[in-house]
Amino acid sequence: MDFQELIEQRYSVRKYTDEPVSIEDITAVLEAGRVAPTARNSQPQRIWVVTKPEDLAKIDECSPCRFGAPAVLVCGFSKEATFMHADERNGDWCYGFVDGSIVFTHMLLKARDLGLGACWVGLFDGPKIQDALGLPDDITVYSLMPLGHEAPGNVANPRHFERLPLEETVTWL
Ligand SMILES: Cc1cc2nc3c(=O)[nH]c(=O)nc-3n(C[C@H](O)[C@H](O)[C@H](O)COP(=O)(O)O)c2cc1C
Repeated sequence: MDFQELIEQRYSVRKYTDEPVSIEDITAVLEAGRVAPTARNSQPQRIWVVTKPEDLAKIDECSPCRFGAPAVLVCGFSKEATFMHADERNGDWCYGFVDGSIVFTHMLLKARDLGLGACWVGLFDGPKIQDALGLPDDITVYSLMPLGHEAPGNVANPRHFERLPLEETVTWL
């Protein structure tokens, strides 16, 4: 699949089989995130790989959006490691969410490249997940990535096909 096909064919997967994701595939997804650009190369991303049934059950207590995936990447950033930009107009500005989003997008596309399903999940109770998994206080969890083999017959949600035309989102000056 070339890059254009990859970005057009990726969609949010919300139905998975029970088949575990191999360590090789999870590692390849993580590796795609590792090479992502971050502000000042600060690399504040911190990721927890959750595959044990008891930990997946904890995720289910904190989010309705695991969708039965056999693996979840809990994605956070270190507040200490993140680059802070002193912006005169807006005050100090934290790049953690921006850096994290780039890392996440690299991993989302790599998952698709490997034939795996994944989804960006922003609907979760952050403090609860932090306590449940025993994550350090320095971490802000910004998203979850359910990861797995897409259930046979699953298709993209209709919203996937609803993209605004460039005229509505872009201004050529
Ligand atoms: C920041 C962000 C948060 C999202 N949170 C959720 C979520 O909590 N649950 C969910 O099912 N999908 C979530 N999504 C997926 C979007 O609904 C989805 O990307 C969008 O509808 C376009 O569909 P597509 O990914 O299939 O192209 C999120 C996506 C983004 C970028």
